[in-house]
Amino acid sequence: MEIEAKIKELEKRNREAELGGGQKRIDQQHAKGKMTARERLDYLLDKGSFQEIDKFVVHRCHDFGMEKKKIAGDGVVTGHGTINGRPVFLFSQDFTVFGGSLSGMFSQKVCKVMDLALKNGTPMIGLDDSGGARIQEGVESLGGYGEIFKRNVWSSGVIPQISVIMGPCAGGAVYSPALTDFIIMVKKTSNMFITGPQVIKEVTFEEVTAEELGGAMSHNRRSGVAHFAEDSDQAALDRVKELLGYLPQNFREKTPPIECTDDQDRTDKSLNKVVPANPRLPYDMKEIIRTVLDNNQFLEVHKYYANNMIVGFGRLNGLAVGIIANQPKFLAGCLDINASMKCARFVRTCDSFNIPLVTFVDVPGYLPGVNQEYGGIIKHGAKIIYSYCEATVPKITIVTRKAYGGAYLAMSCKHFDGDTNYAYPTAEIAVMGPDGAANIIFRKEIADSDDPDATRARLIEEYRNNFASPFKAAELGYIDDIIFPENTRPRLINALMTLQNKRATIPKRRHGNSPL
Ligand code: HXC
Repeated sequence: MEIEAKIKELEKRNREAELGGGQKRIDQQHAKGKMTARERLDYLLDKGSFQEIDKFVVHRCHDFGMEKKKIAGDGVVTGHGTINGRPVFLFSQDFTVFGGSLSGMFSQKVCKVMDLALKNGTPMIGLDDSGGARIQEGVESLGGYGEIFKRNVWSSGVIPQISVIMGPCAGGAVYSPALTDFIIMVKKTSNMFITGPQVIKEVTFEEVTAEELGGAMSHNRRSGVAHFAEDSDQAALDRVKELLGYLPQNFREKTPPIECTDDQDRTDKSLNKVVPANPRLPYDMKEIIRTVLDNNQFLEVHKYYANNMIVGFGRLNGLAVGIIANQPKFLAGCLDINASMKCARFVRTCDSFNIPLVTFVDVPGYLPGVNQEYGGIIKHGAKIIYSYCEATVPKITIVTRKAYGGAYLAMSCKHFDGDTNYAYPTAEIAVMGPDGAANIIFRKEIADSDDPDATRARLIEEYRNNFASPFKAAELGYIDDIIFPENTRPRLINALMTLQNKRATIPKRRHGNSPL
């Protein structure tokens, strides 16, 4: 063949591969409001940066007439590119080719980029849109999933892994995203479940739609499986870009700082009034968080799940930080099972990737209740303790109001090697709230008095004045300083800059045995 003909042949093969399952299926994909696998990569990556790998791979199945149906690429587009100039490896499942189902060769393609990402210390991004295991291939496909899961686990804590669910993701296929750091789902077009509505109906007689069972809001609000719910493919990909901005390339690096365009000495008098004088009144902890962060920008993670706990990313003086906070507006900020899991997971994610932790505390305690106890609040609550004790990144804590009992300890206290622990003058740090404490230690005195209600009220007030303050903790050095709320931002930035070169280790072991 002449050289010109060979080049033409390459062009033709490229065009065919790029068409995936063909124009009709591309149109069907668009009609569902979905982008194609390649359009998604184009949108996500810096213009012209995508370098494809394994474009001409085909499956090797000879059953069910599959030998006559081969499509270059075999249902997944893989390669690398850059996002805001930083390299990433990716795969993008192509629903137009055999429903994006996973064959042995498809898995090999995915594993190749996962291996490259791990070896090169580069984030791995997966765009999921697949009917699951390629049914015609049987166990070869299952083996393919196994190889992927293993790589997800080996990459965990080494490189950031982000999964974007942009179509179906069913059966065991859900476990690859579940093993990654973040799951972003697209509303209405994506779903995730182990067993679908049909099987559930046959087994448990429950009737549920795919959207109710495994749609974006089900997993963002109810199960907590997913971290973000976005309105469209584009919005989900924008979220990936934003999220990556807060993460380093790998565990050996720090998140690249950006130039701070906000005043690092900015004080804000409104902060003096956010915490109400009446300790029973709620307030919105997000007001404090937004006020102190650079340009008031806060990327909330798990926004719809366990609203009594807030987690997310922001920047202080251009440096990425992970924010963890109790939310007094929901369940009075109590720690329950879901909040514990949400908090612990986020603390571990930040610690894996050298992201300092800034914790805002207003917590009356762990949530009482039979369901909580039967549900294992003991082991789930322990996760918070485990994660903070294990974390060696800079840990800065501000107690804005309540810090009672076990919850005082759990929320990044000094005893867990908190580096900088501040309190507002409104802080109440004690073994329990004044009401409960007075009822126990003054029980006899209250019962014996002529006017038990008045006596109780007086003793509660006395207890509050004596113990429900930050001063006892500050006297013991458990709180480094009691700060004026208006100075929160400059004090946080000062602490963070001071802790930039922190080096800390915990005893070596094969690996810890976190309560699961
Ligand atoms: C082979 C598949 C496929 C699969 C879809 N297709 N899923 N081919 N293996 N798993 C093909 C369809 O046959 C069809 O081909 C094309 O992809 C588009 O699918 P449609 O059904 O027309 O699309 P839609 O109506 O949008 O429905 C999408 C779907 C449905 C909900 C994903 O296709 C579906 O239920 N698929 C099967 C899902 C499943 O049970 N997967 C196995 C799960 S078990 P044609 O040529 O007809 O257009 C599993 C185990 C993993 O994954 C375990 C890991 C440990």
